[in-house]
Amino acid sequence: MSEYKTIKDIELKGKRVLIRLDLNVPIKEGKITDYTRIDASLETIKYVIDHGGKAVLMSHLGRPDGQKNEKYSLKPVALALEEKLGVKVLMAPDCIGEEVEKMVELLTDGEVVLLENLRFHPGEEANDESFVSSLCSLADVYLNDAFGTAHRAHASTYGVPKRLAADGKEIGAGFLMDKELQIWEPIVEGSGNSVAIVGGAKLKEKMKAVKKFVSTFDRIITGGVVSNVFMRALGYTIGSSNYLEKDKDYTPMAKEILDEENGDRVIIPSNVVCATTEFEKKEAMNPKEKIDEGCISADVIPSADDIEAIKNASRIVWFGPMGVYEKGYTAGSLALVDAIGESKAYVVIGGGDLAAAAKGVDAKISTGGGAAIEYITSGKLDALEALKG
Ligand code: ADP
Ligand code: 3PG
Ligand code: MG
Repeated sequence: MSEYKTIKDIELKGKRVLIRLDLNVPIKEGKITDYTRIDASLETIKYVIDHGGKAVLMSHLGRPDGQKNEKYSLKPVALALEEKLGVKVLMAPDCIGEEVEKMVELLTDGEVVLLENLRFHPGEEANDESFVSSLCSLADVYLNDAFGTAHRAHASTYGVPKRLAADGKEIGAGFLMDKELQIWEPIVEGSGNSVAIVGGAKLKEKMKAVKKFVSTFDRIITGGVVSNVFMRALGYTIGSSNYLEKDKDYTPMAKEILDEENGDRVIIPSNVVCATTEFEKKEAMNPKEKIDEGCISADVIPSADDIEAIKNASRIVWFGPMGVYEKGYTAGSLALVDAIGESKAYVVIGGGDLAAAAKGVDAKISTGGGAAIEYITSGKLDALEALKG
């Protein structure tokens, strides 16, 4: 596993330690609603502080598409970090530029600064050379602990470590990376009765997960926007329910999956909670009956067979909430949480939003959604490849 250095192999004292974290936490009306990713990042930050490093933290938040947008500011995260670390966390006005360079230059050993959202610049996702250079100018040492973003070959996860290594600087992984890889191992290699639950809204990754799971899991319970795609593939009328991601229609892919040898392992909802597009009502229905225009499937309630399968499983993986939990459509996810509580399975749940939706679940919690899917489907993560130098 260790084809790359880890934090303990690297001298940190007096160094500007540029740390890529995944602090992409759910925020509602300016308030953080789940701290899993922040809590998971603390060990590495504390270690750097305690070893006399100057901690320069960087992350993305949401998908602001290369534009500065206050809604996606990391400021609330800086406050949360400050409280949890018990030390001052300076908030930089941007992630690159003269003012930021000066702030980093003025840090003394053990001090912490959080750079503003990397994705306010298009160069981050494009892995642009000059953006990479600007970030590199802030670092003597680079650490990556952003497991949740390790499937992205962006500037901060790929270009920067590559360049720094080429320039003879030390690069390595933080504590969370190895912990995460260990959590997923029994899911990747396990056998026995197995259930995968795939909900949420990020279809590119979630559909890839369903495609993989039809050959590696016995039952795939769908929820969220993922289930809308499958309902559409079966010809259901789903009213105004969303079934797209960035205008891409995954219905053809869903049809292909259903036609595969084990396509019948994919469970299409038989009970959903309908809402208006303004989230004004809660009405249980069978989605085979028509969902009206102006209404959506806002939650998926697992069937008695789903619950039974979960109780009897030895291996369960869960990505993405069953419904629009932040608007109160939590019943489907909570029913799964209860069933998991009664099962003896090895359970891992992954993703930025699910941890909030599935509060109280008796499981290993991973900070990775798309990253974990990439890891368990391909066995590789671009950011880890970059750490090999
Ligand atoms: P995760 O971060 O756990 O991997 P995603 O980011 O893919 O999950 O999806 C989380 C989002 O999915 C939440 O914001 C939730 O509101 C949304 N969602 C869940 N069910 C539905 C639905 N039926 N219609 C629209 N959005 C949904
Ligand atoms: C996630 O929430 O899955 C990670 O933070 C990655 O975010 P992204 O899918 O917007 O790259
Ligand atoms: Mg998410």
